[in-house]
Amino acid sequence: MLYLVGLGLADETDITVKGLEAVKKAERVYLEAYTSILLVEKEKLEAFYGRPVIVADRELVESGSDEILADADKTDVAFLVVGDPFGATTHTDLVLRARELGIESKVIPNASIMSGIGCTGLQLYNFGQTVSMVFFTENWKPSSYYDRVKENVDLGLHTLVLLDIKVKEPSLENLARGRMIYEPPRYMTVAQCASQMLETEEERKGGAFGPDSLAVGAARVGAADQRLVAGTLKELAEVDMGRPLHSLVLLGRKTHDLERDYIREFAVDKATFDACWQKAYGASS
Ligand SMILES: C[S@@+](CC[C@H](N)C(=O)[O-])C[C@H]1O[C@@H](n2cnc3c(N)ncnc32)[C@H](O)[C@@H]1O
Repeated sequence: MLYLVGLGLADETDITVKGLEAVKKAERVYLEAYTSILLVEKEKLEAFYGRPVIVADRELVESGSDEILADADKTDVAFLVVGDPFGATTHTDLVLRARELGIESKVIPNASIMSGIGCTGLQLYNFGQTVSMVFFTENWKPSSYYDRVKENVDLGLHTLVLLDIKVKEPSLENLARGRMIYEPPRYMTVAQCASQMLETEEERKGGAFGPDSLAVGAARVGAADQRLVAGTLKELAEVDMGRPLHSLVLLGRKTHDLERDYIREFAVDKATFDACWQKAYGASS
């Protein structure tokens, strides 16, 4: 059996009882470590699970899946995914490959950032399409995400923006020269995301958002040092939310008064928050 086990959002203790049982009886345990990260070291997982953990990078999962699936028709293999195995990540390829090889698979769900973001007090029902923000470079500033944000904005819905992670990636220069030398890991911050959004708006001028648009930054959701900050994109572009991981939510026009009251508590500046709220939503605060 191939078990796809969700690990939850923060540390080794977020695994479910069912997930832990699958890990304990598995012959081999892989940890998918490139679409998201747990906020603790691999050694902590190994100590808690009582099993050695093999880190599976993108190359192994995407090109070497047969190695992961070897003998899984006779023994159990656990494939650990941070968050939920199917939350904002798809491992359908691996399941399809297992199916082709006649290997059964079972998914053990867990909390995902897609649900964990509810800690902001924003109603999950009021979210539109989730988008991803990638690191801009000097010559590459992809803005296709903007169209989807604009659609959400037009419908009055919130937008969850998931931020780029670069783990074990060669620099463009090294790639061009065929050298597999990896850059140190990089995780996008709320500040980088907000300032890239403002850069895109300057270029697109579609009015989807601007410096005074309200948003919420969420750092380390589910961890003891989780941090939430509400403010304008201009304010969030300056905020330091500490260590990864970070996400951002752009508020939709249909934000309910209860949602507003909840996020106002962690506003960078309550007076600015109220003024921008008044301007954008026309409601009294
Ligand atoms: C591909 S998505 C997450 C997929 C994962 N399978 C899940 O269900 O949560 C990775 C992005 O989600 C966001 N994210 C994940 N965990 C987070 C956390 N604990 N706090 C804040 N943002 C988080 C970050 O923007 C991160 O770059």
